Amino acid sequence: MRLMRHAIYPGSFDPPTNGHLDIIRRSARIFDKLYVAVLENRSKKHNFSAEERVDLLRRITTDLPKVEIITFSDVLLADYMKQTGIEVIIKGLRAVSDFEYEFQMALTNRKLNPDAETIFMPTNIENLYLSSSIVREVAAYGGNLDGLVPEHIKQDIIAKFRRKDDGNHETH
Ligand code: COA
Repeated sequence: MRLMRHAIYPGSFDPPTNGHLDIIRRSARIFDKLYVAVLENRSKKHNFSAEERVDLLRRITTDLPKVEIITFSDVLLADYMKQTGIEVIIKGLRAVSDFEYEFQMALTNRKLNPDAETIFMPTNIENLYLSSSIVREVAAYGGNLDGLVPEHIKQDIIAKFRRKDDGNHETH
């Protein structure tokens, strides 16, 4: 009997971008089940709530039956993997600058859970420059998000920043 291979792709996805979707699609071809985990990075302040990020990810992955979007808090990724038996972490790598931080996280996760293996997937060349903060920056100035985020969720991201902008005017 072949072993079912489950993997987890963790991130803050604030918001998800075309770069994230590319990693999700390519990982889903390799694994039997891919959990995309919306997590909190405690050193960042998030713009979209966890529920909003889960919803955005669900909507862009409806055609990928092997993908499940999840979220959890107050538990380390390494411990969640122990509890669920998931052994592979997928991380996207864009540039060399990502490497040091990702390497540190990979080693820490394996220290905390010796069964947790991290696999780095290089990003597509078109998404090399992309990040969630770049998307937020463009959206905050009402810029064009074409090619940066999936079409399905573009309007939601624009609307989120428009609402924020309206809020700002009200307080002045
Ligand atoms: N395409 C586009 N952008 C990408 C990308 C890709 N393929 N891969 C990463 N990015 C961007 C992300 O959007 C993010 O951008 P931002 O900084 O502008 O928001 C940036 O690269 C960093 O992404 P990532 O390395 O995935 O970090 P993260 O902050 O999104 O997530 C967690 C980090 C949540 C996975 C990590 O803190 C975690 O596992 N937390 C859970 C608690 C825990 O176990 N902590 C101990 C970890 S050792």
